[in-house]
Amino acid sequence: MASLTLQILCSILFSVSYLCSSLAQSHTYIIHMDSSSIPKAFSGHQSWYLATLSSISDNSEETPTTAASRLIYSYTHSIHGFSASLSLSELGALQKSTGYVSYTRDRPLTMHTTHTSQFLGLTSVSGLWPVSNYGQDVIIGLVDTGIWPESESFKDDGMTQIPSRWKGKCISGTQFNASSCNKKLIGAGFYNKGLLSNNPHLKISMKSPRDTSGHGTHTSSIAAGNYVKGASYFGYANGTARGMAPRARIAMYKAAWRYGVFSSDVLAAIDQAIRDGVDILSLSLGFALDDNFLGDDPIAIATFAAMEKGVLVVASAGNDGPLYGTLINGAPWVLTTGAGTIDREFDGVLSLGNGMQITFVSLYPGNSSLRQLPLVFMDVCRSVEEMKKNRNKIVVCKDDLSISTQVENAEVASVYGAIFISNNSLSELYTRSSFPTAFIGLRDGQTVIDYIKKNINPRGSLKYQKTVTGRKPAPLVDGYSSRGPFTSCPRVLKPDLLAPGSLVLGSWSPTTSVAVVQSRPLYSNFNLESGTSMAAPHVAGVAALIKEMHPDWSPAAIRSALMTTAIPLDNTFGPIKDKANNELPASPLDIGAGHLNPNKALDPGLVYDATVEDYVKLLCAMNYTATQIKIITRSTHNCLNSSLDLNYPSFIAFFNDNDSGSDAKVVREFRRTVTNVRKGRSSYTAKLTAMSGLKVKVEPEKLVFKQKYEKQSYKLSLEGPKVLQEVVIHGSLSWVDDLRQYVVRSPIVATSLVPESLSKTKL
Ligand SMILES: *[C@@H]1O[C@H](CO)[C@@H](O)[C@H](O)[C@H]1NC(C)=O
Ligand SMILES: *[C@@H]1O[C@H](CO)[C@@H](O)[C@H](O)[C@H]1NC(C)=O
Ligand SMILES: *[C@@H]1O[C@H](CO)[C@@H](O)[C@H](O)[C@H]1NC(C)=O
Ligand SMILES: *[C@@H]1O[C@H](CO)[C@@H](O)[C@H](O)[C@H]1NC(C)=O
Ligand SMILES: *[C@@H]1O[C@H](CO)[C@@H](O)[C@H](O)[C@H]1NC(C)=O
Ligand SMILES: *[C@@H]1O[C@H](CO)[C@@H](O)[C@H](O)[C@H]1NC(C)=O
Ligand SMILES: *[C@@H]1O[C@H](CO)[C@@H](O)[C@H](O)[C@H]1NC(C)=O
Repeated sequence: MASLTLQILCSILFSVSYLCSSLAQSHTYIIHMDSSSIPKAFSGHQSWYLATLSSISDNSEETPTTAASRLIYSYTHSIHGFSASLSLSELGALQKSTGYVSYTRDRPLTMHTTHTSQFLGLTSVSGLWPVSNYGQDVIIGLVDTGIWPESESFKDDGMTQIPSRWKGKCISGTQFNASSCNKKLIGAGFYNKGLLSNNPHLKISMKSPRDTSGHGTHTSSIAAGNYVKGASYFGYANGTARGMAPRARIAMYKAAWRYGVFSSDVLAAIDQAIRDGVDILSLSLGFALDDNFLGDDPIAIATFAAMEKGVLVVASAGNDGPLYGTLINGAPWVLTTGAGTIDREFDGVLSLGNGMQITFVSLYPGNSSLRQLPLVFMDVCRSVEEMKKNRNKIVVCKDDLSISTQVENAEVASVYGAIFISNNSLSELYTRSSFPTAFIGLRDGQTVIDYIKKNINPRGSLKYQKTVTGRKPAPLVDGYSSRGPFTSCPRVLKPDLLAPGSLVLGSWSPTTSVAVVQSRPLYSNFNLESGTSMAAPHVAGVAALIKEMHPDWSPAAIRSALMTTAIPLDNTFGPIKDKANNELPASPLDIGAGHLNPNKALDPGLVYDATVEDYVKLLCAMNYTATQIKIITRSTHNCLNSSLDLNYPSFIAFFNDNDSGSDAKVVREFRRTVTNVRKGRSSYTAKLTAMSGLKVKVEPEKLVFKQKYEKQSYKLSLEGPKVLQEVVIHGSLSWVDDLRQYVVRSPIVATSLVPESLSKTKL
């Protein structure tokens, strides 16, 4: 929060012209107001905000009516307050006005992008899909880049009537009619007043919910896309596409524009989503905070309001991995999702004249000649001139220069095709090359070189569009997925879950090119995208299925069901591994409770619930001031009760007390309460995994429930050194019922990390 020093300086030193002229310059601010301070004279909050704006205006002629043009949004549900364009002197005056709480400068956010249902075990024969009616009564709201309403994923074939409680609308605009909505896409709006206030001369061409990027169309189809037969990305990932909740409803709130994403617009979008009555909110955008105060993150504040209204918010953890402390969107009332790989690989095949075949990873979208062409070994492909002499051939290049230079040379020389022999693992960027290529390793490379050297007329062909499933190990946590701890609230372990994020097939805007082949842009109704952006809507869709089955469950209960049933193992039955760390086992700071496991989440046995009051107690214990707590919760709390020990389905204990030299042991304790969500009697026994160097204990070790919704409490304690020798040691606590049908598992992390000292994600 800026002080008023600058204003005072300017009124004293008029000669400091640079500083003083900046006083008159306007910026966009989000202003938090205490809604209970509204003077009686006003009929509503908007008229109060307008009167306040005109009273502080630099322009003495301003009236509440003329102030309306400077009021960008007045918020009612996500925060209490408004956004407006203000000069520094007006901001100063505002701070003395009745009801003022605090301000933040409007800031830009980032998007989190860079055969999933089968991989997750969802089938139409048994499990979650049929019993949950595929989510037909649940409404998923997305704040994103808009939606392409004509996409087959958003057809309403087979959909029942729109739930009568829905209050949302379909807002028309450029190339978007109210009739663009249907029983699948039941609401659409767009929010760009903040963007325009920050960029007054900007001309927006698509002023409507229509998606000209593809991102929002993609995330919506992942969460709740209808069935589309024969979907693929140029033949890759072919099959029937469908979202996680194929019958759930979609409401799109477009607040992300190709020119930027501003927090004032995102707040307006979430405000409307809460008012409209969405059940689940899926957010694939966010931004890192400059400091550690949660209230500076508009998403953290707006999602608190959503949680109070019973809306579960699922958000992406960010794509700034793999270092610790890079995670964002980690507010304790949000479900934070990391991204994993799936068991699918996209390949091309190189066939040599002698019949030998070499498979390589590729996403080349073009059609390739099946004809065998001459192969020429050119060693390091340094000379474009030399390569031009081999235009109608497949050149073979061995890595020495940076591989990107060689790819560029081959492209400039416009050779028919090229094989690159490289020791480096390749990024998606290369495998999406714009001409026929094969990136192969040193061993396969030697095979090719030997074949060329031993034959007078070496030939080969390149074939693409091969999709292979069942690859092992999968999932892996992908390198880009942001990692915990969440430095703004380290006492709650984050992320919560891992979900498919890498090369996910989803619908796309057909006017946004997805690849370039031979300098020609290519378009497609489907695209393969990677990011935690893709992981969040997977979780949102599955959460919708659970909400359909258990409409009375709180957001915390749904999150608990997803977390305690998540799988920490991959498809080789070993621990999930980290792609960024030589495929060594990942920790809960990378994967949370584990990989999303929809069918089990339906019936978790026990849940860890949390109320609004529980989150407030946590904020109190974080030593936030009364004003800071008001910014987040929009109400006054006296903090008589406070506790850092939120009733959460995971545990993180810090052993980083470096102050004293004493080698005495310390104990970290957690108290939890679980609710039985099964009918009838049941009893559970605690099962702990060993954690090296630590003494882990649960009391009591057995929990007996006589009826549904009964609660039982327990205590977990970890005894260890003041400073742990390792960075992270992890284990788990599972409550296993006597019939061994239910395993309610929570990850435990002990760490020597000092969250405050971890550097924040750079944007
Ligand atoms: C909007 O409605 C008009 C009139 O019904 C129609 O001609 C037009 O094609 C529609 N546009 C879109 C994008 O649906
Ligand atoms: C994808 O296409 C291949 C080749 O045409 C075919 O063999 C395979 O069955 C298809 N897979 C699906 C799921 O349709
Ligand atoms: C591949 O061939 C098909 C059928 O001839 C054509 O429709 C498509 O545009 C071609 N793809 C590319 C990338 O040239
Ligand atoms: C391949 O990479 C590994 C690890 O980076 C390195 O040790 C090895 O020397 C490289 N081999 C060649 C032939 O470049
Ligand atoms: C809050 O303040 C108390 C008293 O100064 C201190 O003991 C405690 O460690 C602080 N808690 C946090 C989370 O900073
Ligand atoms: C504080 O906690 C106690 C015990 O849990 C409870 O009885 C009391 O109502 C709480 N007070 C407030 C103000 O929440
Ligand atoms: C503890 O102090 C030592 C020496 O100052 C330092 O190297 C180490 O990083 C500190 N550890 C923690 C967990 O702060």
